[in-house]
Amino acid sequence: MGWPFIGETIGYLKPYSATTIGEFMDQHIARYGKIYKSKLFGEPAIVSADAGLNRFILQNEGKLFECSYPRSIGGILGKWSMLVLVGDMHRDMRTISLNFLSHARLRTHMMKDVEKHTLLVLRSWKENSTFSAQDEAKKFTFNLVAKHILNLDPGNLETEQLRKEYVTFMKGVVSVPLNLPGTAYRKALKSRCTILKLIEGKMEERVKRIQEGNESLEEEDLLNWVLKHSSLSTEQILDLILSLLFAGHETSSVSIALAIYFLPGCPQAMQQLKEEHREIARAKKQAGKVELTWDDYKKMEFTHCVVNETLRLGNVVRFLHRKAIKDVRYKGYDIPCGWKVLPVIAAVHLDPSLFDQPQHFNPWRWQNNGSRGSCPSMSTVSNNFLPFGGGPRLCAGSELAKLEMAVFIHHLILNYHWELTDTDEAFAYPFVDFPKGLPIKVKAHSLL
Ligand code: HEM
Repeated sequence: MGWPFIGETIGYLKPYSATTIGEFMDQHIARYGKIYKSKLFGEPAIVSADAGLNRFILQNEGKLFECSYPRSIGGILGKWSMLVLVGDMHRDMRTISLNFLSHARLRTHMMKDVEKHTLLVLRSWKENSTFSAQDEAKKFTFNLVAKHILNLDPGNLETEQLRKEYVTFMKGVVSVPLNLPGTAYRKALKSRCTILKLIEGKMEERVKRIQEGNESLEEEDLLNWVLKHSSLSTEQILDLILSLLFAGHETSSVSIALAIYFLPGCPQAMQQLKEEHREIARAKKQAGKVELTWDDYKKMEFTHCVVNETLRLGNVVRFLHRKAIKDVRYKGYDIPCGWKVLPVIAAVHLDPSLFDQPQHFNPWRWQNNGSRGSCPSMSTVSNNFLPFGGGPRLCAGSELAKLEMAVFIHHLILNYHWELTDTDEAFAYPFVDFPKGLPIKVKAHSLL
């Protein structure tokens, strides 16, 4: 269990390559098996790299286990953030988020903007200059959610200010929670105040406009919706918006950067993507259509395989925080009530007994999906794939994230050839990041 109080936390959090499970997990699994105990984040903990136990934990949310993120996360994201809420309040906030991110809204409202914001970023790229692919992906996903949550337009002063504050904020969410002068955590708490002030200013303006019956332009955004249709307090609305802006851009931008990183290493996948997207673009041109539609998105079959493979190998979210709320017995293991429980979803995605050559970027493993029932090994693959968590807390933005990745890949492949200009690699800190920002150089081409 390691040292008093800190236990083995330092070893557990030591950065490692994002396409591996790291030395700590490797050694512990080799010594103790896929389910072991430790002391982490100041508490006794059960760590699980076991696919069955991970599913069992997520499916028994609220019955045997409960979401339990470190208190520092609540300090930064707010006590009303969905990540820390449990019970009825979590359910209410979740319902609002699911409505906002529903399949119907994705098709009717967001699809068009996902494409618009992709093109806005891609068209700003200059040939032969080196830039950070990770920053560009962040720009895209941030602008998109800022538009749909607060009706903020890309490039304007407020949006840029908010985006900059989010960089500082983000560093604090994932840093050691030391509230001392100069620490990343202290700076993030300051950023939190600035961001909330900005959102509150928007809220006041909006309330005024709603009262004056003048709000038609923003009717579609989340702020308007919660103000008009929910009974949330100002504090609750602020935390909801702050955490949705956070959840809605960090993870999906890193996933896009990961795809940009993996693809050049797999020329065959690049070629197949080119053919798929060229075909879609050609059919649109023939029909005299320009904008991508939901049907086009559905045609991106191989791209969906690339998206899945990127999420499996890159593991943007490595593990989740839970605690046992009852004494639990699982296949001969006892998990005492009150203990921390960490389902490590990344360890399952990289488990050689479940995924053939797990370190290998192989989008074809996702073809002939097991849901058709034709290939049992494929259904095992899908069953053990939990990049968005599972159970009652399954990621509310999973469909949007996949749509963002596919549309971005569509226009990237159609318009650019890219190469990595420096050795950079995704690391798990445990949040996934490219230390050099993933520098790339692009050359424009047209595949049509
Ligand atoms: C590839 C991108 C993404 C990944 C890998 C991802 C992953 C996850 C995971 C693993 C969880 C579960 C956390 C837990 O159970 O403790 C989660 C929750 C959540 N995600 Fe995502 N996410 C992504 C994109 C997004 C986007 C684009 C949005 C919104 C615009 C979003 C909104 C949320 C929300 C609101 C929750 C909380 C759900 C709840 O507690 O009921 N996510 N995400």
